[in-house]
Amino acid sequence: MQSVKRIVQKAENGSLTAAVIGLGYVGLPLALALADAGVKVIGVDVDPSKIRILSQGESYLTTAPSKRVAAAIASNRLVATTDHAAVASADATLIAVPTPLGAGRNPDMQFVETTVRAIAPHLKKGSLLSLESTVYPGATRETVLPILEAAGHEPGRDILVSYAPEREDPGNSNFALADIPKVLAGFDAASQEAANAVYRLISPSIREVSSLETAEAVKITENVFRAVNIALVNELKHIYGKMGVDIFEVVDAAATKPFGYMPFYPGPGLGGHCIPIDPFYLAWRARQLDTEARFVELAGEINSRQPEIVVETLERALKLHAGIELEGASVLMIGIAYKKNVNDLRESPGLEVMSLLRRAGAKAEYHDPWTPSVGLTRQYPELAGLASVPMEGLGKFEAAVIITDHDDIDYELLAAEIPLIVDSRGVYRNLDGRAAKIIRA
Ligand SMILES: NC(=O)c1ccc[n+]([C@@H]2O[C@H](COP(=O)([O-])OP(=O)(O)OC[C@H]3O[C@@H](n4cnc5c(N)ncnc54)[C@H](O)[C@@H]3O)[C@@H](O)[C@H]2O)c1
Repeated sequence: MQSVKRIVQKAENGSLTAAVIGLGYVGLPLALALADAGVKVIGVDVDPSKIRILSQGESYLTTAPSKRVAAAIASNRLVATTDHAAVASADATLIAVPTPLGAGRNPDMQFVETTVRAIAPHLKKGSLLSLESTVYPGATRETVLPILEAAGHEPGRDILVSYAPEREDPGNSNFALADIPKVLAGFDAASQEAANAVYRLISPSIREVSSLETAEAVKITENVFRAVNIALVNELKHIYGKMGVDIFEVVDAAATKPFGYMPFYPGPGLGGHCIPIDPFYLAWRARQLDTEARFVELAGEINSRQPEIVVETLERALKLHAGIELEGASVLMIGIAYKKNVNDLRESPGLEVMSLLRRAGAKAEYHDPWTPSVGLTRQYPELAGLASVPMEGLGKFEAAVIITDHDDIDYELLAAEIPLIVDSRGVYRNLDGRAAKIIRA
């Protein structure tokens, strides 16, 4: 109990020290938010290049501007290190490391496990350990607690434990960390109280839930909800397409209903670290419990077919409207990032579409103002080094495919210069298509 009081007091009087482990899309904005709230933050990452960049007061993420990093580093509110032992001085340690899929689309918890193992010997007695990474219900109790116990810490007594799922949507200018209520569960009442005090510093409100598993299920539910609804609207797109009805017009009109409907838009497939991955965490857990996640599996199947559907639509449109084959056609892909106004290529359907186009023998290039070039990815190593082409000399392209609806693209210029556009994002629904033939995909 003494330790809870100390954490609450320190949070209130501005003398709290926190460690954030994993300085990626989630961890870096989290570290900056804590630093802005007056917390002394120790940022830990295994990637030395990230630590070097941060220590120079710069950033590698468009969603965490260099100006904020520079201010946090200059004021000593943020120090960055690769050394896990630095958590020794932290009153609270927050973990935001990846939770990808492993073989067979099963949860890969190795980053969480390695992290907890690396910090466990150094954690200060009476400090709080909070997991932010997305995991399946049961994961904190089953993976984090045993590692703490093996290191000689009794959860709830020596180390307070909470699960606090990160709900941020990087690049969303309407909702930043400071606008999103925090869902929070403590291992016990003391852990909850300590976690409340820490997260109150950076969250507009806190929604306590009754168990670690409930908090884990909340996060998974939010992302399953998105995956299933996106699959539904992708399916409706095809059905309505056969009827000559435009799905975007339907969704926009349905969204005028002030209750009982929430708009989701179709697209070229799912991307990012969350929506394509998290539902499989639940499906895996369901299988372990001898039950099924049929909706979730079906949504995964429908969504992962979308990149192929875009390419098939382009192939048909080229034949019908230009009288040419996809093989040998000059195609400009607009956007390669998985969503608008970010440079995030993780799980991006843009990579899949580019790979399919090239395999089909198309002369495919891309333009993406946010992604000047494609780095090395595990799934598409053949695309490494591919660079964004300028929006010049567009006349040489026989078709364009809209993959990402970035704001700073001159869509009217595109439609004035390229005769055929396959639009998977509905960007032309409110724009003048000019000379181009616009085909929905
Ligand atoms: N990106 C999102 O939009 C988002 C939103 C909500 C929740 N999440 C969840 O947050 C978690 C982190 O996602 P992210 O997008 O920030 O991932 P990321 O890949 O951008 O960042 C993770 C960071 O952790 C570092 N790391 C890996 N192992 C480490 C270790 N042992 N010690 C220290 N650092 C280590 C990596 O070098 C990397 O910098 C995931 O569980 C994800 O599902 C992500």
